Amino acid sequence: MRALHRIEPELDRDRLRDFLRASDPDDYLLEELDAWVREGRLWVVTEGEAWVAFGRLHDLGRAEGWVSGLRVRAERRGQGLGGQLLLGLLSDARSLGLRELRAVIESTNAASQRLFARSGFRPVLELTLRCGHPSSSRAVSLRPAQAGERPDGALGWLPATDGISDLMPGSDGGRLGRWDPSLLDRWTMEGKLYLGRGLAAAVQADWWPRPRTMWVHPLQGTPEELVPALGALADRLGQEAWQAFLPSSDALRQTYAALGLTPHPFWGDRIHLYEHRVLR
Ligand SMILES: CC(C)(COP(=O)(O)OP(=O)(O)OC[C@H]1O[C@@H](n2cnc3c(N)ncnc32)[C@H](O)[C@@H]1OP(=O)(O)O)[C@@H](O)C(=O)NCCC(=O)NCCS
Repeated sequence: MRALHRIEPELDRDRLRDFLRASDPDDYLLEELDAWVREGRLWVVTEGEAWVAFGRLHDLGRAEGWVSGLRVRAERRGQGLGGQLLLGLLSDARSLGLRELRAVIESTNAASQRLFARSGFRPVLELTLRCGHPSSSRAVSLRPAQAGERPDGALGWLPATDGISDLMPGSDGGRLGRWDPSLLDRWTMEGKLYLGRGLAAAVQADWWPRPRTMWVHPLQGTPEELVPALGALADRLGQEAWQAFLPSSDALRQTYAALGLTPHPFWGDRIHLYEHRVLR
């Protein structure tokens, strides 16, 4: 008998760890599971006592939701379990009053792309996840913004190109949502907005512990100016690396490579943001 259950991370953490390990011993979720389960609503598809599929829905506020961590037991993939789970997450989202759901999917993950497309998600944006490194170059220096201070001039990165913004992460990396200028005030209050001459970025230091990594949302400046400034900031903040979702095109990927940014070791080079609007 197959059923969908919401699980309690506090009670089911060990079982979840075993489930993930059995599906994929190298699953990145295992690294930071404790932090990962703290946010969001966790669902499993069960068959009798056995768990066969798992996924998470995260209410981001502003009627926006984030879907992540979908996993089906390796030997049970391609049998519709992922579809059943995603339908369950959509129904949970409706019950919470969420109006827009998003998820990121690598271009090489055909099964996941088909699954989300079948459930009404559409690709809206191509991104690439890139890693940068600290450097002690003489770049323009970035400093924390003061209350009420705004970047000088228009923003040029993700929010400007499509109205989508990295909302800055919880434990599992950037989540993307609708751009809203009040995010700048929130980041300033949280000490995450950094400004320099013609440059701006939101930064969360110590987003990941090993290696010490800061999460970055570029906002203003050319890659040629902003990337070295971020390397210098990482160096000053004692970070061993930084990481960001960046806009993706063939030309931009060449620029990122020339500036020493590297693709993420686990994720593919082209990542698509999928969106499901106005849930009925
Ligand atoms: C992605 C995943 C959750 C999908 O679950 P699933 O139970 O296999 O999904 P379903 O059977 O409901 O359907 C998947 C769709 O992909 C297709 N598919 C399955 N395996 C495929 C493969 N190797 N290549 C291409 N398409 C594939 C299925 O035919 C189906 O397409 P259809 O709707 O046109 O019939 C599952 O494969 C999985 O756990 N993968 C590993 C973890 C992962 O990648 N998670 C997603 C992160 S975004």
